[in-house]
Amino acid sequence: MWSDAERKEVNDVLETGILMRYGFDGPRKGKWKAKELEEAICSHFGSSFAQLTSSGTAALTTALASLGVGAGDEVIMPSFTFVASFEAILSVGAVPVLVDVDDTLTLSPSAVRMAVTERTKCIMPVHMCGSMADMDALLDICKEHHLLLLEDACQSIGGTYKGKHLGTIGDAGTFSFDFVKTITCGEGGVVLTNDKEVYTKSDAYTDHGHDHLGADRGADLHPFLGYNFRISELHAAVGLAQVRRLPEFLAIQKQNYRVLKETLSKIPGISFRRVPDIEGDSCTFLSWFMPSEEMAKALIEALKEEGLAAGNFYWYNNNWHYIRKWDHLKRSVSLNRLSQIQEDALLRLEHQDFSASDVVMSRCISTLISLTWNEAQIREKGNKIVEVASKVLQRTNKVLV
Ligand SMILES: Cc1ncc(COP(=O)(O)O)c(C=O)c1O
Repeated sequence: MWSDAERKEVNDVLETGILMRYGFDGPRKGKWKAKELEEAICSHFGSSFAQLTSSGTAALTTALASLGVGAGDEVIMPSFTFVASFEAILSVGAVPVLVDVDDTLTLSPSAVRMAVTERTKCIMPVHMCGSMADMDALLDICKEHHLLLLEDACQSIGGTYKGKHLGTIGDAGTFSFDFVKTITCGEGGVVLTNDKEVYTKSDAYTDHGHDHLGADRGADLHPFLGYNFRISELHAAVGLAQVRRLPEFLAIQKQNYRVLKETLSKIPGISFRRVPDIEGDSCTFLSWFMPSEEMAKALIEALKEEGLAAGNFYWYNNNWHYIRKWDHLKRSVSLNRLSQIQEDALLRLEHQDFSASDVVMSRCISTLISLTWNEAQIREKGNKIVEVASKVLQRTNKVLV
């Protein structure tokens, strides 16, 4: 949703012509959009520190590196996520250890427990589709085994768990501000942390290792190697206007979710995703389960035939989000050579049993919550889904009998 607020912030930057977030102190005439956005993020989400990045993927990579995760370390991540999870882990030389999700659509704590080895360094829950992982259970495992916890909250901006914002509970957390997120910069991301050292490292890592302590960029020291994961002032300017509007967006999402859930509850035999803290759902999606895989597949086909498929996601068949279709990962196809330990771990994935995830994901449909719907439109859309789903359930039940 765009308004004059975004245009004003972008125009501020265009007027000075300083599109870079660092340096050029004179000509920028006091306009520091990236810094302002970092401050706004800290105060809105209750995080001590925030480091903006060029994307959510860059934020995950930066957070892992700043937490000291590197060559050969194992990072436990879920089988249902976005490809960025394993991309970030691999890019710091670590080994992604994929484990099952449960009916929260996030890491199953019991599967995590079974996957911990002496090489495990970090657990990386992904708060998928607006809602959260079972954080208490995961924090317990981290405490017991002295592990780091990195929260990928890229899809759950504004969600909370027991009063704390997702992304601020673990040792570090990340948001993505790409074009399809609750608030966007066009492209961008952020590392959130309450640990000053993790923040200082993130700050330098995202800018070629610059310590940002010199009188100018040429005088900065480089305490360690870094990369360019900087956000631009133009992107940050858009985000600055958007973060101020987050409460407005969340209120609309929550109201639309409530109406849709009430409507879809009329479908006999379906159930909804388990949400560990229902108050904290950011409500970007309403995720629900058909009684069986056959019924879910039949429903998706029927929705397509009725022209209702848009906005109803069947992740089980999706190439981006679920282990089943990540052939490039399972075959370890990489342009640059991966380390032997990484390659061996990836090749083992082909034969790993993900049947517990399959049982959940093969029945799951996530219905997108739009900010632009009004109540009548939601009820109309919801009622059409109810009609189609009820017919599918009747038909498939008969076939099964
Ligand atoms: C769960 C999750 N993590 C990370 C990312 C990566 O964010 P970006 O697209 O900003 O790199 C995404 C993007 O969709 C995501 O959904």
